[in-house]
Amino acid sequence: MDVLKSFPFDAWSGPLGPSDHLEAITALESGQVLFFPHLAFRLLPSERLLLSPALSSGRSKNISLDPSGRLENAKLSREARTLLPEMMERFAKSAHALLGDLFPSYAPKLERARTSFRPVEIAGRRSARVTDDTLLHVDAFPARPLRGRRILRLFSNVHPGGVPRVWTVGEPFAQMAAKLLPLVNEPVIFKPWFLAVIGATRGVRSAYDSLMLGLHDRAKLDPDYQARTSKTELQFPPGSTWLCFTDQVMHAVLSGQFVLEQTFHHDIDAMAEPARAPIKVLEAMVGRRLA
Ligand code: SIN
Ligand code: FE
Repeated sequence: MDVLKSFPFDAWSGPLGPSDHLEAITALESGQVLFFPHLAFRLLPSERLLLSPALSSGRSKNISLDPSGRLENAKLSREARTLLPEMMERFAKSAHALLGDLFPSYAPKLERARTSFRPVEIAGRRSARVTDDTLLHVDAFPARPLRGRRILRLFSNVHPGGVPRVWTVGEPFAQMAAKLLPLVNEPVIFKPWFLAVIGATRGVRSAYDSLMLGLHDRAKLDPDYQARTSKTELQFPPGSTWLCFTDQVMHAVLSGQFVLEQTFHHDIDAMAEPARAPIKVLEAMVGRRLA
């Protein structure tokens, strides 16, 4: 199977037919990255001033906008204070429109989560191994238990020059889990409740959440795994868009600057093939319910 599946669309909404829907959903659920080389998210001329790494507060490389309109990790001039949330909101709406048209059967169960703007060059940044996204991983949220729900992310490269976002994609989820799950420790029994009570997580982590975090950390912390696993390099040029289930696709970002990202959460019962969801794959491996 190819890691990438390309689509020719150049508009964020538009009438798509049943064959487009089938192609898109099959690619997504089987763990491919859907790539739209001609689908650009365009900044307005007045928004060009937002293309600066100085906008990031430095605490985190990503500026985020939650659906209620709250902006985090930004250090903004007066002008940028209105322009940035407007630009991010327009991106969020474009992303939502595209997903609604590509995956109409998901629409009722698709929850818009955070929008992020990533203005900092990836290459050469220092970070601890577990937070280093240049190492292959599946996404899992430490503070937001999903109990089996999916993480779907859409990215657009808005670099004003010619700089691509460079990713590597690793092996299929089930192959990775077969190698790494036996090395993941189950949490001590009261830890998930304790974390919820002290407010470290929004709700109680399920066994699924703990195992996914375990896989995320295990993969990043294992230099042998990183060195030996199969890798495919992907280049996403400025003016292109891509999306995938980042809780399923092993991915890493090697370099690039100025990308916008929209996260969605999604219930597995709206999938065409729920058996492909990470929770189902892991449940089949351990022989019990995980959420
Ligand atoms: C990630 O999800 O690991 C980072 C992807 C990116 O910022 O391109
Ligand atoms: Fe990631």
